[in-house]
Amino acid sequence: MLEPRGSHRPTIIYRPIQPSDLEVLEQIHLALFPIRYERDFFLNVVHGHGIVSWAAVDGQNDELVGFITTRLISARESEIADLLRHRSSRKELMLVYILTLGVVEHYRNYGIATSLVREVIKYASSITNCRAVYLHVISYNLPAIKFYRKMLFKFIRRLQNFYYINGQHYDSYLFVYFVNGSHSPCSPLNIVAAVANYLRGLLKMLASKLWRNEETHIPVWSKCSETKTLLVTPNKRILGAENSACRVCTSQLT
Ligand SMILES: CC(C)(COP(=O)(O)OP(=O)(O)OC[C@H]1O[C@@H](n2cnc3c(N)ncnc32)[C@H](O)[C@@H]1OP(=O)(O)O)[C@@H](O)C(=O)NCCC(=O)NCCS
Repeated sequence: MLEPRGSHRPTIIYRPIQPSDLEVLEQIHLALFPIRYERDFFLNVVHGHGIVSWAAVDGQNDELVGFITTRLISARESEIADLLRHRSSRKELMLVYILTLGVVEHYRNYGIATSLVREVIKYASSITNCRAVYLHVISYNLPAIKFYRKMLFKFIRRLQNFYYINGQHYDSYLFVYFVNGSHSPCSPLNIVAAVANYLRGLLKMLASKLWRNEETHIPVWSKCSETKTLLVTPNKRILGAENSACRVCTSQLT
């Protein structure tokens, strides 16, 4: 059940994230997510290097209370390429990938995340060759899953063992919101592609299980390096514990 909204609704202003947000942005990520992001990630966000982002700030004191960070990526290199129709003569198709979304607890359930995601949809729609906004949600994050369903994102598939956090595997859900007239196709070719994709995932999962069985014989130091951070990519993520973390592995799922 959702927390009841307070009687006083805050006035929220939406603007791009800027360098002065750096410290607070980092603190909020630390508070909201069970992992640490690389410093470079935050620097790229606040300087807009390859990342497009929005901040939600309280109009009364300019305090940062929410954020959304995104990256524009080539559809061909994404794991949802099979969902899109490619025409060779056309300009390369693009997608907007949501990297992180968060609202500080005290400001939740006021529609702030809704407004942030709408900004992203507006941005994606303004890019003529952009076909969708997509993201991954960890399978236990029910509020976020409910949120994306409410925003009419389409559930595409469950990715087994997508995340590896503090020594444990977690599945993720892949959600997509199509823009600019794009939609999930269902031609026989696409069905074959989807089945092939599923079988490939299954094989990868079996291979990783076999690999994990074997890895018990490998000394821990040979596969882990000292890091406390997460590299954010729209790829498979391996996240580490605070003190003994495995480096992120960025093997594409496609
Ligand atoms: C998920 C999150 C971003 C939602 O932010 P928010 O500003 O509270 O969301 P909104 O007020 O726009 O909520 C819109 C809808 O989402 C759903 N929702 C939001 N929070 C929910 C919760 N705790 N439980 C169930 N549904 C929830 C509801 O359907 C809600 O619609 P309603 O208000 O008409 O009931 C916020 O809870 C958060 O920051 N969580 C921690 C970080 C996180 O999980 N990020 C997402 C990772 S992909």
